[in-house]
Amino acid sequence: MELVVPSGTDTLLRDLVQEHTGMFFDAEKGDLLLDKLSPLVIERGFHSFLDYYYLLKYDENSVDEWKNVIDAISVQETFFWREMDQINALVDCLIPEWAERSNGRRLRIWSAACATGEEPLTIAMALAEAGWFDRIQVEIIATDASTAALTKAEQGLFRERAFRNLPLAMRNKYFEKEGNTWRVDPALKSRVSWDRANLVNRHEIAHLAESSFIFCRNVFIYFSNDMIRRVVRTFADHLKKPAYLFVGVSESLLKITTDFELLTVGNAFVYKLRETSRRPLNSNIELATLKRRQ
Ligand SMILES: C[S@@+](CC[C@H](N)C(=O)[O-])C[C@H]1O[C@@H](n2cnc3c(N)ncnc32)[C@H](O)[C@@H]1O
Repeated sequence: MELVVPSGTDTLLRDLVQEHTGMFFDAEKGDLLLDKLSPLVIERGFHSFLDYYYLLKYDENSVDEWKNVIDAISVQETFFWREMDQINALVDCLIPEWAERSNGRRLRIWSAACATGEEPLTIAMALAEAGWFDRIQVEIIATDASTAALTKAEQGLFRERAFRNLPLAMRNKYFEKEGNTWRVDPALKSRVSWDRANLVNRHEIAHLAESSFIFCRNVFIYFSNDMIRRVVRTFADHLKKPAYLFVGVSESLLKITTDFELLTVGNAFVYKLRETSRRPLNSNIELATLKRRQ
C-alpha cells in the first residue's frame, strides 16, 4: 500500500518521536524513520502518516502505541563481553574502592539501556568470576524502553552472534545449549532484575539513578545533545556519590556536562560525578516545572 506523507508530517513525526523516545532522526534520516514506522501505520489501517501522527499525539490510548514505536525504531544490537575494559575497571578497581567505604551497604549497578540483556549479564558474570557476590550485597538493575528487547532478555535464550566476544570457557560455564540457542544459567540470571524505563522520562528513571554505577552505553549515539544533557542531568541529580557513569566508546560527554569528569581507570575511560555537582534544592519543584513545560 502506498502511504501518504502530507507536507511537513515527517518533521512533526521526527520531533514527536524525539520528545517521547530521545531518538533523533535528522532531516537526512527522515525517510528511515518513515520506513520503520510504515508497518505500524498500515497495521492501524491508516493511509496517511498524518493520521498516525494524530494518534500518537492526541489519542488517550497512545501509551501502548508508543511501545510499538520504540520496538520498531530502536537498534538493539548488543553482545556479551562488549567493551570489557570498562567492566574490568568496575570489577578490579572501582568496586574494591567502593567496598572499602561501603560500611556494609548494598551496591547498586544500573544498566540503563540493556537491550536484550547481554550487558547486565556480562556484568554479573564478571562480578561472579571475581567473587564479589560472596563478599558484598549487589543489586544489578537492567532496564530498556523496548518491551520486545526486555521480553527476549527475560527469556534468557541467546543466539550464536551474542557470543562473538565471550571466551569459550565462560560460555560453557554460564550457558547450556538448547537447540540452536544457548540458555543462560538461571542462577546468574537471577542476579539481575529487569524493568521497563524510558530514559527521557525523569519520573521513570529518578529512582533507578540512585545507584553508584550507571552503564548507559551505545544509546546516546541516537540522541540529540540536548536530550543527552537532560538525561545526564537526571543521573547527576540522583546518583549516590562516589558515582560513576559508563558510556559507549564512541560517545563523549565532554561538551554536554560539567557534572562529570573524565578519568582513566585501568584501560577504560569512565565519567566520575564531581563532588561539587549540585543536587536539586527541591526535586518536587523541579518536577512541577518540568510537567508545566511538557
Ligand atoms: C544498541 S543497544 C545498546 C545495548 C547495550 N547498552 C550495549 O552497549 O551493548 C541500544 C538500546 O537503547 C534502547 N533505547 C533507545 N532509546 C531508549 C530510551 N529512550 N530509554 C531507554 N532505552 C532506550 C534501545 O531499545 C536499545 O535496546
